Amino acid sequence: MQTDFLVIGSGIAGLTYALKVAAACPDKSITILTKTQSDETNTKYAQGGIAGVMDFDNDSFNKHIEDTLIAGDGLCNKHIVEIVVKEGVERIEEIITWGAKFDKETGGDYKLGKEGGHSEFRILHHKDVTGKEMERALLDAISRKPNIKLLNHCFVLDIITQHHLGYLITKSTPDIACYGVYVLNLNTSKVEKILSKITLMASGGNGQVYRSTTNPAIATGDGVAMVYRAKGRIENMEFIQFHPTALYETGIRGHNFLITEAVRGDGGILRNHAGEAFMERYDERKDLAPRDIVARAIDNEMKIAGTENVFLDCRHFSKEKFVEHFPNIYEKCLSIGVDITKQLIPVAPAAHYSCGGIKTDEHGRTSINYLYAAGECASTGLHGANRLASNSLLEAMVFAHRAYSDSVKYIQTESSANFGGAQVGDWKTDGTNAPKEMILITQSVKELKLLMSDYVGIVRNNERLHRAMKRIDLLYAETEALYQKTIVSPQLCELRNMITVAYLIVKCAEFRHESRGLHFNTDYPEKLERIQNIVL
Ligand code: FAD
Ligand code: SIN
Repeated sequence: MQTDFLVIGSGIAGLTYALKVAAACPDKSITILTKTQSDETNTKYAQGGIAGVMDFDNDSFNKHIEDTLIAGDGLCNKHIVEIVVKEGVERIEEIITWGAKFDKETGGDYKLGKEGGHSEFRILHHKDVTGKEMERALLDAISRKPNIKLLNHCFVLDIITQHHLGYLITKSTPDIACYGVYVLNLNTSKVEKILSKITLMASGGNGQVYRSTTNPAIATGDGVAMVYRAKGRIENMEFIQFHPTALYETGIRGHNFLITEAVRGDGGILRNHAGEAFMERYDERKDLAPRDIVARAIDNEMKIAGTENVFLDCRHFSKEKFVEHFPNIYEKCLSIGVDITKQLIPVAPAAHYSCGGIKTDEHGRTSINYLYAAGECASTGLHGANRLASNSLLEAMVFAHRAYSDSVKYIQTESSANFGGAQVGDWKTDGTNAPKEMILITQSVKELKLLMSDYVGIVRNNERLHRAMKRIDLLYAETEALYQKTIVSPQLCELRNMITVAYLIVKCAEFRHESRGLHFNTDYPEKLERIQNIVL
């Protein structure tokens, strides 16, 4: 199969890019691949909303820029922050024209929410299901574009480069090029080769590397792992954001329901098991301090009390107002026997967002030619050491737009006339057999999640990182041996990808000899003066 533009991922980044390319190049073919159903994405689960300066009477670009820089703890690229904040408003207006609806006041102005680290109310939202609404609007718009093919249940295994033409490729090889992908079509159980002139990696996050995460099962860091295998540049993977308030349900681990930070924005108060509103002991911004600070404070309170959770107190809210803004959360809590008007909500931090990823420039170009990256899998320089809440949907749209504008310029040049990978062979299956028992995969997944949660969580130290790496090395060796002799399956490939992502997180953490933003190492509790991105 051949396609002019190939998009890996059907979340906000992939769909925004595809829509724009389709409109600008009606004579070109665009193919979107997604590994399960098209709407099963991190995007669908976004709750709080999308940050953007809409109320110029009280807010300004400068304030949003400043809040982003403060949250990023010295590591943001200021130029990129300015781009995202300023261009973001246009992107928000665009998705509204594509049909996304955000809540409005009776007078017609947008209702703006507030979350940790924001100095003003600037978060547009659709009740507490903003991502679902944005995903719906995007998929509707996609279905009206005849030159877009959206293929569900197509699991991308690897990107195709000169390596697949028999050349030796290393990190220092100049001009590595992406010619397309090998994909396991789960509808036919066959591995197919798809050649493309331009590819966008929009494969989302990697929360599944941890035991407790707000991310759905698809978030296994496949794109980052594929690009790393293809010898592309990856950066700042140590900055894993733990959301302070995932719902704590005994026995539920893997995909934890989120209690949006907007609840704290509206006045929710964190309390420990003694009932104390403890955040004032940690930061003057209390419950609305940036996420790294709140998550570490909760972690500390849990360790002191020897408990697995703290509580979010919403008993003082008017029930009517709570239900109007957070109907989904209200229902979810009731379903587990928590009436938020009378009882405290049990919450605990959970892996939520990957701030690092595939290194891109300001146009979304990766270090591999013809390969762009946007959305959570990318590291653009916006988030630095800690993402400001509700900045990621914004970043995904801004960078999808920038990647689109750059790549349509390329497709109009002569050098894009042919498919570079025309000589690449088919996927080789010689010597591989069906897996004998899935336990070899499922047990390794459990081990990986456990070691990452216990050794590479909110608070780290050198000994824990060292132990984690030794265990990852072993899992890597066992899994590679299995991979060489087994017919590929999503489970095996996801395990392989998660091991690579875990390796990258630990490696970057080991290289960072300081504590900054989301990375806190008790052996290096101070911040270094020299600002450093860790690039692998
Ligand atoms: P995703 O939306 O995750 O899409 C990834 C796509 O890649 C999927 O289609 C998947 O199938 C595909 N894919 C992955 N691997 C493969 C493969 N091997 N082969 C084929 N396809 C593949 N951010 C905010 O700004 N505001 C919020 O309020 C907010 N709330 C959040 C709440 C929750 C519970 C979560 C989990 C995240 C939240 N975030 C929020 C973060 C934000 O939702 C994500 O960062 C963003 O949606 C990521 O979009 P994306 O397009 O990069 O990836
Ligand atoms: C939330 O709603 O609390 C999540 C917002 C985000 O991750 O940006």
